[in-house]
Amino acid sequence: MNPINNFIVQFVKILPKRVVYIFAKKYVAGSKLEDAVKVVKELNAKGIIGTMDVLGESITKKSEAEETKRHCFEMLDAIKNNNLDANVSIKPTSLGLNLDKEFCYKQIEEIVQKAKEYNNFIRIDMEDTPYTDDTFAILTRLQENYNNVGVVVQAYLRRTFDDVVKLNKLKTNYRLCKGIYVEPEKLAFKGKQEIRDNFVKVLDKMLSDGNYAGIATHDDYLVRESYKLIEEKKISKDKYEFQMLYGVTESLRDKINSDGHRIRVYVPWGENWYAYSMRRLQENPMLAWYITKSIFSFK
Ligand code: FDA
Repeated sequence: MNPINNFIVQFVKILPKRVVYIFAKKYVAGSKLEDAVKVVKELNAKGIIGTMDVLGESITKKSEAEETKRHCFEMLDAIKNNNLDANVSIKPTSLGLNLDKEFCYKQIEEIVQKAKEYNNFIRIDMEDTPYTDDTFAILTRLQENYNNVGVVVQAYLRRTFDDVVKLNKLKTNYRLCKGIYVEPEKLAFKGKQEIRDNFVKVLDKMLSDGNYAGIATHDDYLVRESYKLIEEKKISKDKYEFQMLYGVTESLRDKINSDGHRIRVYVPWGENWYAYSMRRLQENPMLAWYITKSIFSFK
């Protein structure tokens, strides 16, 4: 991040939360589950699918993981009761991966089991590299008994193509994204184009081997390249979908929708909106400038 953007981010960090909420509300459905239900209903009305996520990561007590699990159950109930077209995304560290791997596995299995009863699906988000192997281990163990669970892979990681070669043998349901965490150069590609090239290479492998791919990007270059692959390989519409974050590049989202591709939007909600919003801000330097302008016009 350049020094000006870095300054803006540091500046935003010292602002009162209610001021930061001015920009956060664009990216977060709200602090309550009913806020997320409302957003998903609106998306569904436009033909867009949802994935709900209760905000929170790296907890410090097992009771917090159990609370996250309860929220996941509530989301699954809400999806069923409101007849929503949506599934649920979970973060392993919000379910105790950083505390006790077996405990975390059990929490996730309960969620996947409940989703199975409801004919729903659980997406396991991918966090930073200390958790990559453990997350794949949880996934492959679950895949022995469940087919309603999938994982995320990150195109910026050098290991990802090899991971996908292995996981394809289990007919894995993927979300492919660039990757959001700061990783060392030894583990991750750093150049914009080399990350894009790896994204396309990994997507090609997923689709060629007949796996389901959630193509999670707002990068119009990658959307175009994905369109090309889908067309060249004659991939049927039930083998892929596009995915975007709530509040980001809505015009591209609507174009993909009107081009007739399935598209899913990630709808985060919860009391922990502040940490999530700070991450979104650090990711997008343009946003920092945006926020600064809105803060001053607000005052
Ligand atoms: P890029 O960052 O180049 O963005 C392209 C354009 O989109 C930007 O120029 C900007 O205009 C806009 N844009 C992108 N992000 C924006 C933002 N936050 N705010 C405003 N504008 C933005 N990562 C991870 O490590 N693990 C995970 O499990 C997930 N899960 C996930 C789910 C879904 C549905 C999505 C869409 C993304 C993720 N990610 C993720 C995040 C992902 O790794 C990546 O950081 C972002 O999607 C940004 O990468 P793009 O491919 O969009 O390209």
